[in-house]
Amino acid sequence: MSSETRKIVVTSALPYANGPIHIGHMVEYIQTDIWVRFQKLQGNECIYVCADDAHGTPIMLRAQAEGITPEELINRVKIEHETDFADFHVGFDNYHSTHSEENRYFSTYIYEKIKAAGHIATRTISQSYDPKAEMFLPDRFIKGECPNCGAADQYGDNCEVCGATYDPTELKNPRSVVTGETPIEKDSEQYFFKLGDYADMLKEWTRAGHIQKEIANKMDEWLEEGLRDWDISRNAPYWGFEIPDAPGKYFYVWMDAPIGYLASFKNWCSKTGHNFDDYWAKDSKAELYHFIGKDIARFHTLFFPAMLHGAGFRKPTAVYCHGFLTVDGQKMSKSRGTFIKARTFLQHLNPEYLRYYFAAKLGAGVEDIDLNLEDFSARVNSDLVGKVVNIASRCAGFIKKKFDGKLSSSLSSHDELNQKFITASQSIANDYEKREFSKAMREIMALADLTNEYIDEQEPWVRIKDESLQQDVQDTCTVGINCFRQLIILLKPVLPALAKQAETFLNVNDLQWADLPNNLLDHEINKFKPLMTRVEKDKIDAMIEASKEALKEEPKVTQQAADPTIEAIADEISFEDFAKLDLRIARIVEAKAVEKADKLLQLTLDIGNQQRNVFAGIKSAYSPQDLEGKLTVMVANLAPRKMRFGLSEGMVLAAGPGGKELFILNPDEGAKPGMRVK
Ligand code: MSP
Ligand code: ZN
Repeated sequence: MSSETRKIVVTSALPYANGPIHIGHMVEYIQTDIWVRFQKLQGNECIYVCADDAHGTPIMLRAQAEGITPEELINRVKIEHETDFADFHVGFDNYHSTHSEENRYFSTYIYEKIKAAGHIATRTISQSYDPKAEMFLPDRFIKGECPNCGAADQYGDNCEVCGATYDPTELKNPRSVVTGETPIEKDSEQYFFKLGDYADMLKEWTRAGHIQKEIANKMDEWLEEGLRDWDISRNAPYWGFEIPDAPGKYFYVWMDAPIGYLASFKNWCSKTGHNFDDYWAKDSKAELYHFIGKDIARFHTLFFPAMLHGAGFRKPTAVYCHGFLTVDGQKMSKSRGTFIKARTFLQHLNPEYLRYYFAAKLGAGVEDIDLNLEDFSARVNSDLVGKVVNIASRCAGFIKKKFDGKLSSSLSSHDELNQKFITASQSIANDYEKREFSKAMREIMALADLTNEYIDEQEPWVRIKDESLQQDVQDTCTVGINCFRQLIILLKPVLPALAKQAETFLNVNDLQWADLPNNLLDHEINKFKPLMTRVEKDKIDAMIEASKEALKEEPKVTQQAADPTIEAIADEISFEDFAKLDLRIARIVEAKAVEKADKLLQLTLDIGNQQRNVFAGIKSAYSPQDLEGKLTVMVANLAPRKMRFGLSEGMVLAAGPGGKELFILNPDEGAKPGMRVK
């Protein structure tokens, strides 16, 4: 462990609040979490913050399509995201939202600082506009034929067939994804961040070791071309923060998203009493790291550093990019069932399988990483179950049965192997620090191999039969258990839940990196319980199948003509659920207005051999005298509900202000009170 404790702030990119977390995302959150846990295990102060990215057009339209407000959508999704992360053991110190007061404050603050220094320009520009939806359209909400290859149904920014990038205005036969309307061009004034003013600073910064070589090279291309002004405003209707001095203009989602890092950190400071400036002020001695995917590099290595610099904050110590996840060598695909949601994975498999597999594949570079499902089972089964956990199971039995659960009280020359671990741990720590997790996993598994070889050579199962060799067997198993304990420390950043179970078995508290040399001697261990089971192929198959099914069931929320007045369809129910409804034809014997209730009618319903009293909110659509004698359908087995005006004993299926004759049945066609509707 280094002699000085470091103060470290770490972030992962903020996931969009309009969709679920999938295993592609998990590459990033697992990578970051392993690094953070490693720092904490070393005794460093390391604060890991994140948030939902809750603004922008897609979220606005998604909420509309679901018939809910954007607030309702982002609140619901935030809970889903947080639950998924927690279940994958991603241990944020704080999880916030970009739709927060802290973020409004910092976005405004940064904007005003930059503006006061003369780095904001306004210009009138022409943009695509949907005259029917009365809104400007982001590139992704315009589709048409590729101007380069003619492929149909391509987005407004790039062609998925030939890879060309272009302006949405260049698309042939463009149409709005929102309404299908042909977009028109419309002028409006926009606010630009003059990024070029920071070109010199950025040229230097991107070459000063803060970002990976590959990314720096990529950014060079942009810097060489000359940095264009960045449009940070959007016209209403937009879901975000209104720009203070510009009514009807909103901050573009990518303007306030990275500021969400500061906002979440500030929120953490308020909860814990820490001082924000210690970490974010220009002269801060704390380290600051952003983990992101390669697709969002320029926002983090050009735009964001310029914003921080312009507003007088410190800049990141480093931005670490990772590659994209493929499954069995191909892009994640909904139809192949490899677009696996985090939740679906959790329903079938242990999250630590994935944590370990990603660790075994991840390096410090930006290459894509592949989840090969066969390799995945083989690796987890052979390394974790076959090598690591096996050591404990091989030694624990002898200790428990023959030595009352007690480890030897001294090891004399036996503990050579434990010493080897301590030496190796330095290079393993170095690998963790440099995000070379796959190297670290290889070294750790080599130590597990050595331990298993040692046990093989010692043959405790043979020696135990010889009375004179009992001490020898206890020593062998004591070495083995201590090697296991050391392996657990080395793997703890990757496998926090397994480590916790192992601590219980070892009868020790919260192991730290610094505990590596402290062998357990003359110490009682607990009964061994299997710590991890093998990956089973049928579970993987079921997960893939479920991912295909999820696709079929997914409500098709196309952005087509979303009508905000239509309520969202409720959660799907099974046929069994449906069959529980007892729907009966009922004759309306009496209908009368309820005093002091604007919407209610009190109905007396005849369902054959009994009468029911039902309050229905249909007054605005039906006058009572028109209803008397008519037939309707009622839910006859709904639990009675006490209302302010009396007991309601069921529900008629005409609730709500519908069309006048809705659900009123014609008795001439055979409908009879009491008849069950199926
Ligand atoms: N909201 C933005 C980030 C704002 S940060 C101020 C965003 N959100 S995202 O939900 O699309 O992605 C979140 C992170 O997950 C990004 O870093 C992205 O690169 C990463 N990944 C999303 N899909 C991925 C894969 N298939 N594979 C690996 N990482 C992926 O971008
Ligand atoms: Zn094309």
